[in-house]
Amino acid sequence: MTNGVAITYTSHDLDVSKVLQVTEFEIDLVNLEPNQVALQALANPINPSDLLQIKGVYTTPKTQQLSGKDVHIGGNEGLFKILKIGKDISGFNENDWVITKLSNFGTWRSHAIVTFGNEEAPVPIIKVKDSLRKDSKLTIAEAGTIGVNPPTAYQLLQNYVKFSPTGEDWVIQNAGASQVSKFVLQLAKHWKINVISVIRGGKPNQKAKEEELYALGATKVITEEQSQSEEYKTKIIPGWLKETGGKLKLALNSVGGASTNALIDHLSTDGYLVSYGQMTTDPIQYTSALQLYKNLTTKAYWLTRNTYEDPESKTRTIDSLVELYESGDLQPVSYSQVEYKLGDSSSDYLKRFLNAIENSSSDKNVVIYKD
Ligand SMILES: NC(=O)c1ccc[n+]([C@@H]2O[C@H](COP(=O)([O-])OP(=O)(O)OC[C@H]3O[C@@H](n4cnc5c(N)ncnc54)[C@H](OP(=O)(O)O)[C@@H]3O)[C@@H](O)[C@H]2O)c1
Repeated sequence: MTNGVAITYTSHDLDVSKVLQVTEFEIDLVNLEPNQVALQALANPINPSDLLQIKGVYTTPKTQQLSGKDVHIGGNEGLFKILKIGKDISGFNENDWVITKLSNFGTWRSHAIVTFGNEEAPVPIIKVKDSLRKDSKLTIAEAGTIGVNPPTAYQLLQNYVKFSPTGEDWVIQNAGASQVSKFVLQLAKHWKINVISVIRGGKPNQKAKEEELYALGATKVITEEQSQSEEYKTKIIPGWLKETGGKLKLALNSVGGASTNALIDHLSTDGYLVSYGQMTTDPIQYTSALQLYKNLTTKAYWLTRNTYEDPESKTRTIDSLVELYESGDLQPVSYSQVEYKLGDSSSDYLKRFLNAIENSSSDKNVVIYKD
């Protein structure tokens, strides 16, 4: 038997430290079913939606049985290494790195067994690094966070609008320094799309943040105050569009309220507003005249829904992202890591997660597992 630990909860609280627990369990590698694969964790990022689920303000993941208890297992993103493969499984090898295909798997656990052939996802994992491919340069830093934010950025840029391949067109995004936004910047640079990143101003690290965003590929970095000003709406941004001769075709929103209203103001005719997050619950407002005049289209984006509707879309996106990492066209964005040594006590495991969660309000945190 192999001992495992998982971060679990059975009730919700806005202070997640009050409800998170650790549950110990065992997996039986010797009696693995022919259609099962045993996994060992390598990395677990802490994402905003993971915390919203534990707080009870987002869809609650399904209840799972662990050591005879009904629990929710935390987390929706995780990188795992294959420990053992059932005899009926093909296309995977021991030591391959994989991520889970569907969210709500409950990724915050040291070990897991996945079963192939389920109706929902017949192949429930996606290979990101083939243990037989000796020339692969993919690192834990890259693969550990490949499952949620990079595919979101990729699909946001690919799914709605056709951009000129010669560099005239523009995207604007609020929460312009988020992890998703940083991947949008890199991909947009690769595809010759200009991006305006809107960030919150007045913070002590503003200069360093702007420099980081320009280095990742931002064409312009502006503050919320500037974005919401008449001058940027009527003169400055139209001037930038005139310089390239393109259109501002896509506005990416993960904030809401006045921040989003300004994005709509900046969009060109026939533009798309795509909302994929809500850092505030403030309503979005625009007039019918503005919608008519601009022929505005508004859409909602959700990676989870896209993946449930078409599980292979995630595999295709991840394959493309792996290629971009392998070719050096994509870099991991910086994050802080908290290490957990497999076999250390279960209370240590919980402590590492609570630590990573606390720090995630100021910085992306990833729990890295050491053998
Ligand atoms: N729909 C999907 O499938 C999908 C997938 C992935 C992520 N998401 C969503 O995308 C968003 C970003 O995720 P992430 O992991 O990239 O987040 P992150 O790295 O934690 O960044 C969050 C960003 O939001 C900004 N922010 C927070 N409150 C704000 C406010 N009141 N006004 C303006 N900006 C505010 C922060 O600005 P500062 O830098 O100033 O602190 C920060 O840049 C989240 O809402 C997440 O749930 C959605």
